[in-house]
Amino acid sequence: MRHLRTMNDLSNKEIMALIEEAMEFQQGKHWAPETPTFVANLFYEASTRTKCSFEVAERRLGLQVLPFEVSTSSVNKGETLYDTAKTLQSLGVSALVIRHPEEEYFNQLHNIQAAIINGGDGCGNHPTQSLLDMMTIYQEFKRFEGLKITIVGDIRHSRVARSNSDVLHRLGAEVKFVAPEEWKDDSYPTDSYITMDEAINTSDVVMLLRIQHERHHSGKAGLDDFHKQYGMTIKREEEMKPNSIIMHPAPINRGVEIASELVECDRSRIFKQMENGLYMRMAVLKNALTKNEGGKEHDNIIKEWEMA
Ligand code: CP
Repeated sequence: MRHLRTMNDLSNKEIMALIEEAMEFQQGKHWAPETPTFVANLFYEASTRTKCSFEVAERRLGLQVLPFEVSTSSVNKGETLYDTAKTLQSLGVSALVIRHPEEEYFNQLHNIQAAIINGGDGCGNHPTQSLLDMMTIYQEFKRFEGLKITIVGDIRHSRVARSNSDVLHRLGAEVKFVAPEEWKDDSYPTDSYITMDEAINTSDVVMLLRIQHERHHSGKAGLDDFHKQYGMTIKREEEMKPNSIIMHPAPINRGVEIASELVECDRSRIFKQMENGLYMRMAVLKNALTKNEGGKEHDNIIKEWEMA
């Protein structure tokens, strides 16, 4: 089994191989395990997209999905994450998709042999969101090298910003950030922060983030005029470069990160990201369940990417 805890579990070649495999699933490729294979989705935090797209992906691959709900499980009696994971492994579950509020919760699970697929760990990582975002960008531009990608909003609390900035950087894109002072993440260099106007005029991708109210400890700081200062307004969309696109992992705070009228505009790839999430999660599950060494089956996209 192969774990997917952070994007550091994947080499650049493995990322490109997953993108190609996801695109093959999108084009109708069929794959199913040879023997009955059980998986469980353990969501200790709310989710619509990640949970539902994993469930659809699992069913489309012919996997047996355990109907596990944290709210009605023995987690309520104090069972630890490790004991829950070990229990499900003992019952024969081969892969566990886990979303948990604790950063790097997966470090508690190093004795678990079932594949751990991280569906989001607190403010830490969201690798399958990152992979579906890479797929969306690659389908649009056929390269990462030389692209300018600006991530906007609540950088400090965003696992999407963390996973995406690291991987985009190693794939050759230039990554910039726009954020109010209180939501800047000091681990990024000061000169990687730019103004919203600069982002709009120069970016190939403007990646908006959801404001993570549930992770703020001091009220709704900076929200009052967030849309005016940092949001994708109708005027800003008109000023974007031709062929540049808008992304957002969703759920969206309409009228805050983006004007409601722009959510489905021509530049928006927001629902495309969600569609791609299904196929990317099929590729991730197949990879986790087959120990597929990324890169061997997918030489074409790797050659194309190396030449770009
Ligand atoms: N983008 C994302 O992770 O959405 P959910 O929280 O609905 O899963």
